[in-house]
Amino acid sequence: MNIISKECHVFASDSVSDDLARLLDGRNPAQVFLLVDEGSRKHCLQAIGHQPNIPNDHIVTIPASDDNKDYTSALKIWEFLSGHGATRKALLINLGGGMPCDLGGFCAATFKRGIEFINIPTTLLAQVDASLGGKTGMNLGSLKNEIGSFAMASHVLIAADFLTTLDRENLLSGFAEMIKHALIHDAGELDALLSFDFDNVNYVRLHQMVGRSIMIKDFFVKSDPQEKGIRKALNFGHTFGHAFETFAMRHQRPILHGKAVAYGMVCEVLLSRDKTGLPADVAKDVALRIERLYGKPEVSMADAPELVELMRHDKKNETTDINFTLLPSVGDVVVNQTASPAEIERILNEYLAL
Ligand code: GLY
Repeated sequence: MNIISKECHVFASDSVSDDLARLLDGRNPAQVFLLVDEGSRKHCLQAIGHQPNIPNDHIVTIPASDDNKDYTSALKIWEFLSGHGATRKALLINLGGGMPCDLGGFCAATFKRGIEFINIPTTLLAQVDASLGGKTGMNLGSLKNEIGSFAMASHVLIAADFLTTLDRENLLSGFAEMIKHALIHDAGELDALLSFDFDNVNYVRLHQMVGRSIMIKDFFVKSDPQEKGIRKALNFGHTFGHAFETFAMRHQRPILHGKAVAYGMVCEVLLSRDKTGLPADVAKDVALRIERLYGKPEVSMADAPELVELMRHDKKNETTDINFTLLPSVGDVVVNQTASPAEIERILNEYLAL
């Protein structure tokens, strides 16, 4: 097990079952519980292997998908822990994508005022973003991550093997957050990412890129663990992105988070040209290359007022203005920028016409 990043306690694991066994032996918790969703139970549980510290009746399964990242699932987890006699010295392992990592982290952070938890992310999105950095939470109705707390996993195990089980859509979804990391902090990595061959995936190369991407997230988390300032850099692409994601969900054609972020990044690259001086040729090149990988959202200009309204209600806003993180150049970032509805609509129009 090699350390990838210190602040977020991330380790690369060649064998999840061996590394987990070693970790559990070393920490000696009073009880160990394992959280899976229906998907990770089916596809990833075997990677855990036989762990004498995890009895079969300590595995709690919740329904899959972000719709279930809610109070009903949280209650199930809390009741399960309580019903099985978990103490303050218990440890919860969250195995799966962003959903079980976020929700399990939140349940662990709040059960008896906080028990230790380990994340074993199994999707690319969870490996490079959701499982790292201490944001835990659940949705409240259609409001994503409205309830939550900051609580850092004691360990995050990153195993390359899980990546080979993912379909193209899920790979692309996580990859969007990697592109984001390069855009905000590593200009040198951007070209390699944007020319990655998804028809012929080189998993060794992908795993190496994942390691570098995690280090970028680690840098921002270390600089500002509770997102008072510079950690907002990680929200690049997310103001437009969350609006596209919520819009798609509302209109019964949900899209993966990373895809929405990719759409959002195209818009926010173009907005960066107008607001923070990103050179026009660079903005056009990056926008076109992301558009080639991810396409365009299923929206028209008639939807612009609804999208602006969604941006107005984004919980990242601290005033009535719509808040953006933008790029003065590739690899550099400025937080707390704003744009008017007219500017937002112009950008949307430009994207749809690309
Ligand atoms: N996903 C952005 C952050 O962790 O701050």
